Amino acid sequence: MSALMELNNVSFYFDKGKSNETKALDNVSLKVEEGGFVGIVGTPGAGKSTLLDIMSGILLPTEGEYLFRGENMAKKGAAKRAKMRNSEFGFVLQDFGLLSANTGLENVCLPLRFRRIAPRMIEKQGLEIMERMNILHLKDRKVNELSGGECQKIAIARALVHKPSVLFADEPTGGLDEINTVLFIEQLAKINKEGVTIVIVTHDTKALRSCSRIYSLTDGRLEEA
Ligand SMILES: Nc1ncnc2c1ncn2[C@@H]1O[C@H](COP(=O)(O)OP(=O)(O)OP(=O)(O)O)[C@@H](O)[C@H]1O
Ligand SMILES: [Mg+2]
Repeated sequence: MSALMELNNVSFYFDKGKSNETKALDNVSLKVEEGGFVGIVGTPGAGKSTLLDIMSGILLPTEGEYLFRGENMAKKGAAKRAKMRNSEFGFVLQDFGLLSANTGLENVCLPLRFRRIAPRMIEKQGLEIMERMNILHLKDRKVNELSGGECQKIAIARALVHKPSVLFADEPTGGLDEINTVLFIEQLAKINKEGVTIVIVTHDTKALRSCSRIYSLTDGRLEEA
């Protein structure tokens, strides 16, 4: 079976050829199978976010190749990659990136606004995922009035509302206390069991306890941990 995501000897340079050239990824090879739950641990500056940007098609490798469903990402145009990001991938970011003045439901529905879906259907899908995650009671609450744990659930619901095949999480537990970190990981494990492939990058090894594969990233180099 071919892997869902496959990086072959990927290196990535910022400002290549300039005096401030930075090699953020160094010859990284990684396979992620469909339904996998992969954790990548690394210190600040190790290249974690750059790796996720490559895997989600935001950046293209400077050297090496990245295949998604067997197709070379570099051969797709920018518009096609952007479309893919909106359909195949969901993202949970460190500070969640929620719109604080908007309601829970408005935040959850955000990824659907970039697609051609009738407003009525957008709301229906938003309410469905909120119900599945037991957060329907947050639908009309303004996000700036919610707790960290509640915001985190809104962020996960938003990342899943368009039924992506892969969920990328970049330092998702950074702002959470220990209890909310554990709850978050349990939620991810449940989502993974339902068939969503998960890639999480973090410096917090506690956040990796449910992962089926763990790698470490050091100065852009990846090794199985
Ligand atoms: N836009 C950019 N321009 C130039 N260099 C960058 C840029 N973004 C990141 N870098 C550099 O690339 C390297 C990897 O950065 P990256 O953001 O991937 O690390 P990280 O592991 O996600 O760090 P953190 O844990 O702090 O989020 C670092 O040396 C960083 O300074
Ligand atoms: Mg980062």
